[in-house]
Amino acid sequence: DAAETEYTQGYDFVVVANRLAVNRITQEDGTEDWQRSPGGLVTALAPIMAASEGAWVGWHGAPDETLEPFDHEGMHLHPVPLSEQEVEFYYEGFSNGTLWPLYHDVIARPLFHRRWWDAYRRVNQRFAEAAAQVAARGATVWVQDYQLQLVPQMLRDLRPDVKIGFFNHIPFPPPGLFAQLPWRHSVLRGLLGADLIGFQRDSDARNFQRAVRHRLGHYIKADQIYVPLQEEDDAGSQIPGFSADPSRGTAPRQLSAPAPGSHRVAEARAFPISIDTDTIVDLAGREDIIARSKEIREELGNPETVFLGVDRLDYTKGIRHRMKAYEELLHDGDLEVGQACLVQIASPSREGVESYQRLRDEIELTVGRINGEFDTMGHTAIRYLHHSYPIEEMVALYLAADVMLVTALRDGMNLVAKEYVAARKDATGVLVLSEFTGAADQLRQALLINPHDIDELKAAMVKAAQIDPDDAKKRMRSLRRQVVSHNVKRWAQDFLDRLHHL
Ligand code: F6P
Repeated sequence: DAAETEYTQGYDFVVVANRLAVNRITQEDGTEDWQRSPGGLVTALAPIMAASEGAWVGWHGAPDETLEPFDHEGMHLHPVPLSEQEVEFYYEGFSNGTLWPLYHDVIARPLFHRRWWDAYRRVNQRFAEAAAQVAARGATVWVQDYQLQLVPQMLRDLRPDVKIGFFNHIPFPPPGLFAQLPWRHSVLRGLLGADLIGFQRDSDARNFQRAVRHRLGHYIKADQIYVPLQEEDDAGSQIPGFSADPSRGTAPRQLSAPAPGSHRVAEARAFPISIDTDTIVDLAGREDIIARSKEIREELGNPETVFLGVDRLDYTKGIRHRMKAYEELLHDGDLEVGQACLVQIASPSREGVESYQRLRDEIELTVGRINGEFDTMGHTAIRYLHHSYPIEEMVALYLAADVMLVTALRDGMNLVAKEYVAARKDATGVLVLSEFTGAADQLRQALLINPHDIDELKAAMVKAAQIDPDDAKKRMRSLRRQVVSHNVKRWAQDFLDRLHHL
């Protein structure tokens, strides 16, 4: 039969992510081409894709444009189109105006709009259909991140024969915050369509399990969630004036394992992501990059202490807290311009979202104020750069920095912290790391701080600048052992091994 032929011709390993694994570039002669995305996820999965019959389903980044599927460097790419309004409602709206702030401890106020939710559901359905179309019979499909939480169940409904994994790259909020989401029940049901649901930290997996227990009442034992096979469909149960979500209040908790045959099992647990360590280590040993790192220090006027912050310009990253601490240290005379310099790379991000536009204004006002007050003719207090840089320049910056400042108020993992550690091959350099990052669960020898405690942050910055070199080396060696032995390839393998085992 036609469907059967289609499935046997499909791909054995399918990744579904909001963004496609390639970026469009314009070459010098004006022609357009595709280039593999530099991120760790793509780097980790590309070899797995090339070794099996692999396909990547995702949005290629431009609105109102339908592209035919194509092959690139051993990967089959299947673009999912989004209209301009879907970019506004699904991507900027529900993903980054509702879920992102809600899942990051409501640092900004999440906005709940029914038309955003409708677009999120519609776009998730489109991704699920695309995955169903390209997956071979019995394929493994790995869905990525918070933009696509409904895809696992939608895909299971279309293709019960495939194995489905889901990984959440950002935090999963405590049940009390998650409860704010008007569509909380549908999101949980969407995720529970996966066989394996991965989170960054143990506490994220626990938050998810508690939400499932509390809202849906499912029986859970040792990370295994017993999902009833006959669940009422909330989409059809809409009564005018009532929410489509039947989980008003809480569900009665199921206290014992349900009868065999009445359920399937979904496992939810932590798989902390990492970086492509080998690439960073290789770049950190390259002579031109080492030379560039020296040049950067010279261009900054050879200060004794270079502090570095590298973030997407996002309100979760604690950039203002970092600047406040630095400003007070300059003001109190604990640091001095010329002797210290803060380099802040803020890469442009989600510029269509209002909270990001406001943040940019605030940060740039603060930088202007601090530099206006403390700069000298020859030296600047903060070298602020609103740009993205290639990885070579980033590694040169890591090598140029004595102290890396990661002060996120909440962060799923924070890969910048791991990249800095990987780059410090001679075990010099100090990492100041917020305890609210996933990375803090593994990088215990960093100077761990609570970024809300400005005095503690200031003390850590001073300690980092004046640290005894032996202490610094001991810490960095231990951090490097962790990062070097847990690269992103191992992360992907651990997840996929577990998924295949289930
Ligand atoms: O951390 C979550 C995440 O979606 C990453 O996967 C991604 O690299 C980053 O945020 C940037 O997001 P966007 O796709 O919105 O530019």
